[in-house]
Amino acid sequence: MRDLAGKRIILTGASEGIGRALALELARRRARIALAARDRDRLESLAQECRALGGEAVAVPTDIGNQQDCEWLAQEAVKAFGGLDIVIHNAGITMWSRFDALQDFEIFDTLMRVNYLGPVHLTAHTLPHLKQSAGLIVAVASLAGMTGVPERSGYAASKHAMIGFFDSLRIELAATGVDVTVIAPDFVVSEIHKRAIGANGEPLGDSPMQQSKIMTAPECAAQIARAIERRQRLLLMSTRGKLGRWLKILAPSVIDRIAARAIRDRH
Ligand SMILES: NC(=O)c1ccc[n+]([C@@H]2O[C@H](COP(=O)([O-])OP(=O)(O)OC[C@H]3O[C@@H](n4cnc5c(N)ncnc54)[C@H](OP(=O)(O)O)[C@@H]3O)[C@@H](O)[C@H]2O)c1
Repeated sequence: MRDLAGKRIILTGASEGIGRALALELARRRARIALAARDRDRLESLAQECRALGGEAVAVPTDIGNQQDCEWLAQEAVKAFGGLDIVIHNAGITMWSRFDALQDFEIFDTLMRVNYLGPVHLTAHTLPHLKQSAGLIVAVASLAGMTGVPERSGYAASKHAMIGFFDSLRIELAATGVDVTVIAPDFVVSEIHKRAIGANGEPLGDSPMQQSKIMTAPECAAQIARAIERRQRLLLMSTRGKLGRWLKILAPSVIDRIAARAIRDRH
């Protein structure tokens, strides 16, 4: 277990949901956090909450889908803290539509830009600093990065890309002291379901999820913080996530049925 007090952290997608809960969890552990997302006001008020809990925090408005913003985020964090120990790639967006119902395929480009290429570019700008500190990269992916999920084809593809990239990087970085932790949450209460892009290219507006039946963001954040302290390789958060890895090899049609039911039951 490594103490997170004083650790210099970039956290993307910090303004809402899992990222916001994780920022507060890290602040309680007295970490120093560069909070990134697009909405400046929400970041500034979160930075105040983090300071009140004992952490240090700076707000760095960032569109992770923009390469220059990724460079700027890395520069601002290093300027504020003098280096970096941990980069948490958490910002993400999703879709909610069958592929054959989609009216606009632009969502596939956007999903790849935000969920996959953003983390790639931010890694390029932060890796030299992580090598100096033998630091940690944390990729908040999804169970959808490990199996197919209906009505999430573009999201699942972007999360498979993300996991493929970071699993490859882990091997390349083996001799550098930089570790990679992949987080694969199951459903979590957050804004992502309301913001999911539907068949017409617009956000759904309402969450189709039964929020009372899924994990809360603070619970998810506490598990992520523990995985960071342990520099765990992979964090799976649900029984079906853990079983699913074996079922995918031994009985792939069963995992397809579980994924189909998981989506049907949430409608
Ligand atoms: N909730 C779930 O059920 C679930 C399950 C598995 C995995 N995950 C993953 O967990 C991560 C966090 O999701 P969440 O559920 O907490 O979602 P959320 O509540 O919608 O929060 C998403 C965060 O990402 C930020 N963001 C979105 N687009 C961005 C962009 N282009 N540039 C920078 N920041 C951006 C948002 O802030 P701004 O809009 O202000 O930029 C917000 O802070 C995502 O990677 C998601 O795929 C979620």
